[in-house]
Amino acid sequence: MSTPRFLNAAPEHFEVWARLFRELGVDDPLPTAVAWLNTQGPDTFFAELDGEIVGYGYGQVLGASGYVRNVVVAPTARGRGLGRAIVLELGRRMAAAGCTSWQLNVKVDNEPALELYRSVGMRGDYRTWVVRIALDTPLALAPSPSAVAAHEPPAELDEQLEREFEVAPGLLARHRTRPGARVLAFEFEGRPTALAPFDPHFPGCFPFRLRDARAALGVLERLLELVPPGRPHLQLVIERDEAAARALLAAGARAVFEIQHMHGPLK
Ligand SMILES: CC(C)(COP(=O)(O)OP(=O)(O)OC[C@H]1O[C@@H](n2cnc3c(N)ncnc32)[C@H](O)[C@@H]1OP(=O)(O)O)[C@@H](O)C(=O)NCCC(=O)NCCS
Repeated sequence: MSTPRFLNAAPEHFEVWARLFRELGVDDPLPTAVAWLNTQGPDTFFAELDGEIVGYGYGQVLGASGYVRNVVVAPTARGRGLGRAIVLELGRRMAAAGCTSWQLNVKVDNEPALELYRSVGMRGDYRTWVVRIALDTPLALAPSPSAVAAHEPPAELDEQLEREFEVAPGLLARHRTRPGARVLAFEFEGRPTALAPFDPHFPGCFPFRLRDARAALGVLERLLELVPPGRPHLQLVIERDEAAARALLAAGARAVFEIQHMHGPLK
């Protein structure tokens, strides 16, 4: 393989990005070109090979940890080392920005990607479930036994919430830069019980934390109210917490996919 050239994201890359993004096999709606450039552009680069853009990498620096969000190689350019070159370039940029570790999410059945990430020293730790709750299908959940209080904490409390709910430092601040994004926190029986960074674009929450399944109905009723008119579902990304995921699936949520979280050291 000739050496790829890495190009910073620019407005003219939107169409090629949209085409490559579809290779991830997720049916999330595409952002507008402007929203894409503002939210992902600064953390995205493209790989050009022989004058053609054939892949991209998107990764965020979250404190001391780098979060690899997307690695995509065009089908015609696969199997020649470009995927690894993009991953290593992401790692190089993250290490240069001070990261000492990196992490990512990958679908559990995406063998090429799992192999690729293992080959650069990452190991799996926990699983994540992406589920959707249809607005027209009531969930078979028991009413929460006491009131669930929802509030929208100010950005000054982000660090505290990230510690409390074991969310990567800096993730909430990043979340707040997305158009229309909100951060909801819930208390139940006097304790912090759920964290829901909501983005109307999906519409849904990444990540969604629910510590006590007894509060599920109260939490979800509030979140369902935030779904913009005309959108059919609420999407929740439930990291680590198999019990919460199984409770929602048993109550009628639909599994979109199951993903593996991986992490490793960065030198
Ligand atoms: C995953 C992906 C980025 C790999 O890109 P690629 O350019 O084909 O990868 P490379 O040629 O650099 O291969 C690097 C390593 O990945 C692994 N790999 C790549 N293709 C593989 C396959 N079909 N089966 C198993 N392992 C594979 C191998 O470990 C390989 O190392 P090796 O060649 O030394 O054996 C590419 O398949 C892709 O874009 N897939 C669709 C999007 C996607 O799923 N991205 C990851 C989401 S988290």
